[in-house]
Amino acid sequence: MNIPYGGILRRRRKFLCMKDIDMNNEEVNDQMNPEQQDTMWSGSKDLLGSGMTLDQYRFPKDPRVLGGSYSVELNAKLLQRYFYFERLLLRAHAGWSMGTPEFEVKVEYGRHLYYHSEAAMAFQKRLGELRISPEIVDQYRNEEIELFFSELIYAESPAHFLAGVYGVLVPQLITAYHEHMMSTDQVADAPTVRLLKYIIADYTEMYLWGKEALQAYIDGGYDGSNIVFSQLHIEQVLSSIGGVTGTQKKTVAPNDLRSGAKEVFKRSFVATRDQRFKTFEHTYDYKKADEGSIEYESDYEETQLDLIRSQRDELDAIETFCNILYEIRDVPFEFDYDLARIIYDETRHTELGFKALEMKGFDPYDLANRLMGIKVRTKMPPEYSFAEICLFGEANIVQEVAKQSREGYKKKDITGLLFDYVNADERTHIQKGTRWIKHLFKTDSITEIELRTKQIAINRLLELGIIDHEVAMTISHKELAKIIGE
Ligand SMILES: [Fe+2]
Ligand SMILES: [Fe+2]
Repeated sequence: MNIPYGGILRRRRKFLCMKDIDMNNEEVNDQMNPEQQDTMWSGSKDLLGSGMTLDQYRFPKDPRVLGGSYSVELNAKLLQRYFYFERLLLRAHAGWSMGTPEFEVKVEYGRHLYYHSEAAMAFQKRLGELRISPEIVDQYRNEEIELFFSELIYAESPAHFLAGVYGVLVPQLITAYHEHMMSTDQVADAPTVRLLKYIIADYTEMYLWGKEALQAYIDGGYDGSNIVFSQLHIEQVLSSIGGVTGTQKKTVAPNDLRSGAKEVFKRSFVATRDQRFKTFEHTYDYKKADEGSIEYESDYEETQLDLIRSQRDELDAIETFCNILYEIRDVPFEFDYDLARIIYDETRHTELGFKALEMKGFDPYDLANRLMGIKVRTKMPPEYSFAEICLFGEANIVQEVAKQSREGYKKKDITGLLFDYVNADERTHIQKGTRWIKHLFKTDSITEIELRTKQIAINRLLELGIIDHEVAMTISHKELAKIIGE
């Protein structure tokens, strides 16, 4: 008799409890004719699967309709432009990090430039699916977009730069992304739609912050009409290159370009701090800088406060990595992406330090900010500055925070958790950093890179009069790490 095998399976399944199913399935399958498993699907009950056969199908309807404005080629062309806007935008933020004294703005740039790197990375990945290899995306250059950015970055003040970014470029990018999301084929190009949705969510947060920050600059004393005038100038430049997409009618460029007759924009070589900060640079030692104004109850308290302050003072780590990101150009985008993530982490470390000081009852601005590390690194060639902060600074701090985290957990102190995360972050910084340093120095020998870096750092310390020639002869790796640190 020819019994459909599905019938056996269903009947047997009825009597099997869940834990029996796996071991019994094998037995059931053994009884089936393997040839039957590959035939007779149509018309069989098995084709309807398990469970109830429905009388009505009222599932949510998919409202998407087919038909978009972009072929794969056109889509890729636009995404490639967006990628470049994002890449240059995060670099522009990096270029203004040193020269932006306002704490809240410097910190926010550290966060936003990471968002831009995430957007650029999403575009690069999508382009890979649209027949454009990552190498081609890495090498993409566009003179018009570069001209726009040289004008944007050549701002007369941090407030003017912010006005150009958040008052002009960010809203125009939102519009371009939104239009792209709506115009492309909703089904065929669904991955682009999805990634733009996420990017627009980040952009909304950035736009709202930028709007308030610009108002804060104006409320704080900047001339609003001058800011608006500068914003219009940037708008005109963007319009003269056909907007973000390059497809709009190109209008006349302004007669006087800010960047036109001058040399390329140079980032600030001074790590600017707003006037709420007290600063010091003659020593790395907080105790010396404080001149005994703080009394500690124990060694634990002293080390803890030192390390919390070091985190708050990682403003200089934000700046160092921003300088590296701004100055090193001929690299794959993955370099920018990793650096942007490190900057975002250093931003969080600064915020953790700042908030932990508040939790401990201090006004963070009252505790002097250490500048020695950034003063040494600001004029080091970027690859050496990178090697110094990674192989000396981070390698040193990673152990210190691990030790203090264990102590903090034991004492049920908030710093246990705080330093635990910092340790986890710093470990990844060292991994990423080491990889790129080897790439930049074109060698796998970390010992060689350390030796060369140590020499450059010593030269800077001598130049600044921080150490003398006698100390320079004998200074150890650890001492150097402590003086310059992260
Ligand atoms: Fe850090
Ligand atoms: Fe770090």
